[in-house]
Amino acid sequence: MPRKEREVTMRRPLMAGNWKMFLDIPGAGKLAEELVSGTKNVTDRDILVCPSFPLLSRVAQAVEGSAVQLGAQNLYYEESGVFTGEVSAAMLRSVPCSYVIVGHSERRHVFGESDELVGKKVASALKQGLRVILCVGELLEEREEGNTKRVVKRQIERGLDGVEEAALEDVVVAYEPVWAIGTGKTATPKDADNVHAYIRTVLSTKFSKTAASEMRILYGGSVKPENVDGLMAKANIDGALVGGASLKSESFLRIIKFET
Ligand code: PGA
Repeated sequence: MPRKEREVTMRRPLMAGNWKMFLDIPGAGKLAEELVSGTKNVTDRDILVCPSFPLLSRVAQAVEGSAVQLGAQNLYYEESGVFTGEVSAAMLRSVPCSYVIVGHSERRHVFGESDELVGKKVASALKQGLRVILCVGELLEEREEGNTKRVVKRQIERGLDGVEEAALEDVVVAYEPVWAIGTGKTATPKDADNVHAYIRTVLSTKFSKTAASEMRILYGGSVKPENVDGLMAKANIDGALVGGASLKSESFLRIIKFET
């Protein structure tokens, strides 16, 4: 039954690892090499790793010519200039990265990124040829106040403000309820699927039904080998954005090789 649910969609699963501020150059290189060798026979899903900036070149070298794609965790929206400590889309392209995560909840809530800043980053990344994973998700108190949909709608609308429908093929949305990130608490597959379905409705209102039905929506927040199969069996869950469990090849490989 779950398999059938998946087959009605044309969305190719994307299994992405967000390595956050972990690892060093040797450790990232080793992990990337293990992922490359462990995914040689995986052809029906996309695989992505997002290390921190100083590790990108080493990981690029390790994944070159493999099915493992490379992304960054953040960028700044200006093309270049006097912005000490910032990194542009062009710099990421030159690594080469193909993806960038934008609007992760840690960027929003630890570093105070606004919806407007997130929107500018999305626009800049797309304009300069990067694919974007736009993260959205509610805080625990927002959920408890019954505001999940309102928050997610606002984050999607502002995050994709000014984005043309044609550019949506380079956009992936990640629904990551903040209360589930790094806490061991996961949304149930049913709850996550409901929010994903709602996100698709928001996308179809802002863009078109076709565009919304083609977009991938990932779930993130304590995805582990033990829960990935149940999440991926849901019709509206098109992949995962994995933090902690992507830092060890054994657990991330099991997640990548989910079975529904
Ligand atoms: P987690 O992180 O899997 O450790 O909960 C997910 C994320 O922040 O993208």
